[in-house]
Amino acid sequence: MRHFLDTWDWSVDELKNMIDLAFLLKRLDKQGACPELLKGVSLGMIFAEQSTRTRVSFEVALEKLGGHALYLRPGEIHLGTGYEGNYDTAKVLSRFLDCVLIRDLDHDSVMSYAKYSDVPVINAMTAYLHPCQAMCDLMTVMEHKPKDKDLKDVTLFWIGPTDVEETGANAVSQLFPRLGMSVIYASPEGYTLTDEEAEPSMRAAEEGMGRFIRTMEPEKYIDEADFVYTGCLYYPGYFEEQKEERMKLFIPRYHVNMDLMKKAQPHAKFMHYLPALRDVDVTSEVMDSDYSIVFDQAENRLYSEMAILCTLLYPGLKQASEDLK
Ligand code: CP
Repeated sequence: MRHFLDTWDWSVDELKNMIDLAFLLKRLDKQGACPELLKGVSLGMIFAEQSTRTRVSFEVALEKLGGHALYLRPGEIHLGTGYEGNYDTAKVLSRFLDCVLIRDLDHDSVMSYAKYSDVPVINAMTAYLHPCQAMCDLMTVMEHKPKDKDLKDVTLFWIGPTDVEETGANAVSQLFPRLGMSVIYASPEGYTLTDEEAEPSMRAAEEGMGRFIRTMEPEKYIDEADFVYTGCLYYPGYFEEQKEERMKLFIPRYHVNMDLMKKAQPHAKFMHYLPALRDVDVTSEVMDSDYSIVFDQAENRLYSEMAILCTLLYPGLKQASEDLK
């Protein structure tokens, strides 16, 4: 039994296999022939935080594969009331379910739940990592990069806050350089990852011979960007109290707008994990332009998550994938 908590727990070959499977399942689903590889499988989805994409995509992914998902909100189940903790909940849910997915900003709590669980656990986002988003982003980059460009020649340019809580940024920078890609973070002083925080991304760059660069000078690297990515500058309940200060600091120089996109590679695309605060994280002009692939990116959550579920839960997957091709 394996969990999907962090892409570091999986080899590059295993991750590439998942993406190949995601593309295969996408093709079959578009033909109306999604295989019911997970017939009868039950997934519990514990969401301590809000979610649109993760919740809906996992539920629909499993339904298309023949299984079914249950939405479990702490406070509605006993977990999160202070009455029943991770150990007892994990032991009980393991008797009912085949897999559990958890979104909880408390990273250590999700890791502790996984330790006690007798069924696979999927990290659906903590304050530190969002590995499901990273897999979807990898699939989207492979889909939208110029066909004649090797993955190792692709540069993703991340502009905006890269605080340690910026889970999307962490997840991408810990995965992409392992496949040889370059990840460049452009953010103002005080918003860049410290050496300690950046260590896994530097290790990823070393393993895959990709580049991981932190800069305070976006102008220096923007012309290399095949993909321009940003995340939330703040969002309701999270960094909201720093709203004015962040906007003043980021918008003049570390912000996605048409001027920035025009300085990137001519084929460059814009990505955001969403939800995006329009005209704060990025201008609506870019969001709605031909540069933007944010909705393709969101759609790929469905297929990359189907691949994660099948990898964890379908024992004869390798043969089935061959047969389905
Ligand atoms: N990107 C992402 O995880 O979206 P949700 O918060 O809507 O799940």
